[in-house]
Amino acid sequence: MQSIRQDIAVRFEYAVHFTEGLFDADNPLLRDVVCAHPTQAPVRLLVAADEGVCRHHPGMLHAVEAYARRHAEALTLAARPLVVPGGEPVKNDPRHVEAVQSAIHAGAVCRHSYVVAVGGGAVLDMVGYAAATAHRGVRLLRVPTTVLSQNDSGVGVKNSVNAFGTKNFLGTFAPPYAVINDSRFLCTLGDRDWRGGISEAVKVALIKDAAFFDSIERGAERLVAREMPPMRALIYRCAELHVRHIGSGGDPFEMGSSRPLDFGHWAAHKLEQTTGYRLRHGEAVAIGVALDSTYAYLKGLLPEPDWRRVLDLLQRLGFALYAAELDEHLHERSHPACLLRGLAEFREHLGGELTIMLLRGIGEAVEVHDMDQEVVAAAIAILRARRPAAAPTGPEGRGAQCASAAAQEGVPWTTHRAAAQ
Ligand SMILES: NC(=O)c1ccc[n+]([C@@H]2O[C@H](COP(=O)([O-])OP(=O)(O)OC[C@H]3O[C@@H](n4cnc5c(N)ncnc54)[C@H](O)[C@@H]3O)[C@@H](O)[C@H]2O)c1
Ligand SMILES: [Zn+2]
Repeated sequence: MQSIRQDIAVRFEYAVHFTEGLFDADNPLLRDVVCAHPTQAPVRLLVAADEGVCRHHPGMLHAVEAYARRHAEALTLAARPLVVPGGEPVKNDPRHVEAVQSAIHAGAVCRHSYVVAVGGGAVLDMVGYAAATAHRGVRLLRVPTTVLSQNDSGVGVKNSVNAFGTKNFLGTFAPPYAVINDSRFLCTLGDRDWRGGISEAVKVALIKDAAFFDSIERGAERLVAREMPPMRALIYRCAELHVRHIGSGGDPFEMGSSRPLDFGHWAAHKLEQTTGYRLRHGEAVAIGVALDSTYAYLKGLLPEPDWRRVLDLLQRLGFALYAAELDEHLHERSHPACLLRGLAEFREHLGGELTIMLLRGIGEAVEVHDMDQEVVAAAIAILRARRPAAAPTGPEGRGAQCASAAAQEGVPWTTHRAAAQ
């Protein structure tokens, strides 16, 4: 018997940039990013944008076209910007993937050109998947527009769409060419989307960085009041911790069974499903983090004062820590909506041995390979008992503080944001 041994080492490198007003004609960042690698100028760009973002930033697509005219020596638009629906529906219908691939084809977008995806995590996932599969991968430039996508989903190496009734069933590991976070987009987020991504910051702080957790605690009221400076700082540090973990954690493409960044996520994924996506990802993560922290406390891993700090912070940030779906069918293991089935589903998605990240202190994580069902039930009972009498937050708003901060800074986008309220 003979065999030839192959050994390929591939290096990926990308930057996550932070800016304000990415498409302002005199902002050189986008031009500089796409011109960073010598290629034939002008480079071709296909912009695919989230319809929700376009609605709240009505001048954006004109700004994109004006930007291309202003920097015509460096870049050109392969086609008029393509607008795709925002949110989860865009990952459910394969026609959206095809629309992006078809535009890549029609616009002669090659592997030295760029697909620029502008939007929330769902649009970035779908456009990223289309870009990764056209020509076996064209360069992807992500412009995330939600807190969650700027500090978590948009800075990593995964993209996907939903298929066969399974979330993220089709997808690839494909590092982006670059990511550009523009804080101006955040002002138009609804309160739930502003808050949602904060839970990912709490999550990563809890497993990796106690000082970061302290700083979120100190800034909680300002975050709730939608002040931009603490949000910018939170996004920066959270993105940095995610990027560092992916780069130096030893398993960027998740070949092993351990997935530390998915702390709190086994229950979160199940809750997203059992609530029919009534809960946003970040909201479900907050509950998942509260549940696994409570479990760790009950198991004697996490000291009580630390456990109290975790729950108190999540509540101060306005997260609910309990949803009725935690309890429904909890003791019917064969029922598809039983929360505990989330453990098996979590393991199946990753393969290998069940590996759950728990806490033994703030900033200190520990892996376990099984969960005691009675203790999970006891943890749920504690969260149920902690429910506030009234809803933790007021009605859904959209960037009131953000708007006044912008007005103080004299930026030109106050008018249309106010109109969107
Ligand atoms: N690839 C990954 O590693 C990864 C990780 C976590 C989550 N995700 C995915 O991310 C998705 C969730 O992303 P999300 O939380 O960013 O929400 P989202 O993409 O579902 O967007 C939520 C809503 O906000 C709108 N929107 C986006 N930006 C806006 C803005 N600046 N102003 C006003 N409205 C805006 C969208 O149109 C949409 O209606 C899920 O599909 C999830 O599976 C992916
Ligand atoms: Zn997450």
